[in-house]
Amino acid sequence: MSRALVTRRIPDAGLDLLRRHCEVILNPEDRPLTREELLDGVRRVDGVLCLLTDRIDGEVMEAARAARGFANFAVGFDNIDVPEATRRRLPVSNTPGVLTDATAEMAWCLLFAVARRIVESDPVMRSGRWPGWGPLQFLGGDVTGKTLGVVGAGRIGQAFALKSRGFQMPVLYVDERPNGTLERELGARRVGLETLLRDADFVSVHVPLNPATRHLIDARALRAMKPTAYLVNTARGPVVDERALVEALREGVIAGAGLDVYEDEPRMAPGLAGLANVVLAPHTASATITSRNNMALTAARNLVAMMSGERAPDCLNPQVYE
Ligand code: DGY
Repeated sequence: MSRALVTRRIPDAGLDLLRRHCEVILNPEDRPLTREELLDGVRRVDGVLCLLTDRIDGEVMEAARAARGFANFAVGFDNIDVPEATRRRLPVSNTPGVLTDATAEMAWCLLFAVARRIVESDPVMRSGRWPGWGPLQFLGGDVTGKTLGVVGAGRIGQAFALKSRGFQMPVLYVDERPNGTLERELGARRVGLETLLRDADFVSVHVPLNPATRHLIDARALRAMKPTAYLVNTARGPVVDERALVEALREGVIAGAGLDVYEDEPRMAPGLAGLANVVLAPHTASATITSRNNMALTAARNLVAMMSGERAPDCLNPQVYE
């Protein structure tokens, strides 16, 4: 019977599916494996179900001599050296589609929470310090009719933009390719990043992390935004220069930010946590029960296919099958 390593506990739906096909070696603790544990764990297995917190590079692939592929429990796959896997003819998969709405919804949560200062208001209520209604308390930003800027109009960026329909927002987007759905359904305009940053009242980031998008939103980009604008990031932390963001938030270069992801998780840039105009979520954009169950099932299905020598349905490097 083949053996699969699951590097951390995932929802049972995925584990049950895997157990019907192979022996599952599961990290018994609810924490990422250390580097040594990961290198050791991959040695004797036929496939690996890994997480975005596992760095899967040439060293791990070398140790995973018998592995027939790596199934990532995430749609993002910047934790895996896919070109190296391709060179070794190892399939790699992700979990596209099943967390699109959950992630888009989280971007809206963050957008509203920061614009309407929910996180600042909540402790005032809980502490009993609220003196009663006041005309100048917690004034925030409007959403309806404001311009929405979507950086990256792939699956999640598109879902996020489509959900703006109820708020009558002009939509600008940046993408390598035109997005016919957004243009048809929303009259969205594809523009350059400079224009988007200059004109948008809300800038939401939905690009994958790669060398071209690392620090796409840097100090210069932040300065190009309106002082009344808000930044939302549910993509990957390193797309935003987090230290530059702290400066920008501190100095009022932009009005606020809603973040689900960080440059060096689980750490945050010095000063970020002390700012009132930022809303911070712990990388939970896909954390709905349904999405996480479906991520587990998707990753498990891909791994079963890999271990049976079949084409993985969500293979990121189909060249390995040529
Ligand atoms: C992903 O899937 O890439 C998210 O960041 C975690 O669910």
